[in-house]
Amino acid sequence: MNETQKRRLEYYASRVEEYLYENIMQNRSSHPESLHTLFDAMRHSLMAGGKRLRPALIYAFCELCGGEPGQADSAAMAMEMTHTASLIFDDLPALDNDDVRRGKPSCHKAFGEATAILAGYHLICHPFYLLASDGTLTPEQKTALVQILAREEGASGMVGGQMLDMQFESQEHVSAEELEQMCLKKTGALIKASCQMGCICGGGSEEQMQAAGSYGLALGLAFQIIDDILDVTGTSEQLGKPAGSDAEEHKQTFVTALGIERAGAYAAELTARAHAALRQLPESETAEFLHALTDAMLVRVQ
Ligand code: IPE
Ligand code: IPE
Ligand code: MG
Ligand code: MG
Ligand code: MG
Repeated sequence: MNETQKRRLEYYASRVEEYLYENIMQNRSSHPESLHTLFDAMRHSLMAGGKRLRPALIYAFCELCGGEPGQADSAAMAMEMTHTASLIFDDLPALDNDDVRRGKPSCHKAFGEATAILAGYHLICHPFYLLASDGTLTPEQKTALVQILAREEGASGMVGGQMLDMQFESQEHVSAEELEQMCLKKTGALIKASCQMGCICGGGSEEQMQAAGSYGLALGLAFQIIDDILDVTGTSEQLGKPAGSDAEEHKQTFVTALGIERAGAYAAELTARAHAALRQLPESETAEFLHALTDAMLVRVQ
């Protein structure tokens, strides 16, 4: 990424962070003191950092379709809340049983399991409230956003993928196709949804939605492959989450299926497919930004 593109990514990240912080703190102060711990738990996980990739995709696709960032704020917040809830749940002892997330104790380690579950619960519901209450979007846009988020988050998307991920732990052999389907759901679905939600916010066309969907799925799968590789090659410090967690939990990953080298080559192939999907859209500075972001995700170390 060049300097301008880096600044743009930072702008998107800090924009969503400010809104998230404001939202949590306002909500916290509008509730009685007995509920403040619930919001402290959300703030702990939401404000611990994180790459903010999904909000960046939402903002960029909104701008790519001719919209302004202001039209995408609620979608960006909704997605980052949803994603953060998925991480809170993913770390629970019943799922991946990880004690560190985004360089801090996991939500259940810091606040206890019950509070972590309830904090995640709010972060799952609140996005729909945010989208439904947005004053800058038309009723049609809101309906489309709610529909896509609910679908890609639930059993046909992220939740379904997480279920398969767990089932695979006790299976001797999982084919590369099965693994791919699982990852397209657990990670690809929300990344694809981010790209398409950005298009909806920006008033994109059907063609733009299609290209954004193909791009998001290719990027999402590559993103999970790199995540699997980093779990083996990275350090906990660098990742901000426990390295080696997949082997400990007997996970079937792209590394166990293909080995590090072939997994890396497949991620590169998917990155090329993501670029090709982007090229279906007219050239622009925003498209260039997305090309650069795509490459940056392939060589990321966090
Ligand atoms: C982690 O997502 C979980 C996966 C889907 C691989 P990210 O790598 O985007 O996590 P943060 O948001 O930067 O912490
Ligand atoms: C997580 O996959 C996918 C979701 C949270 C939906 P992982 O379990 O590999 O994510 P990390 O490695 O814990 O971030
Ligand atoms: Mg997991
Ligand atoms: Mg995990
Ligand atoms: Mg992982």
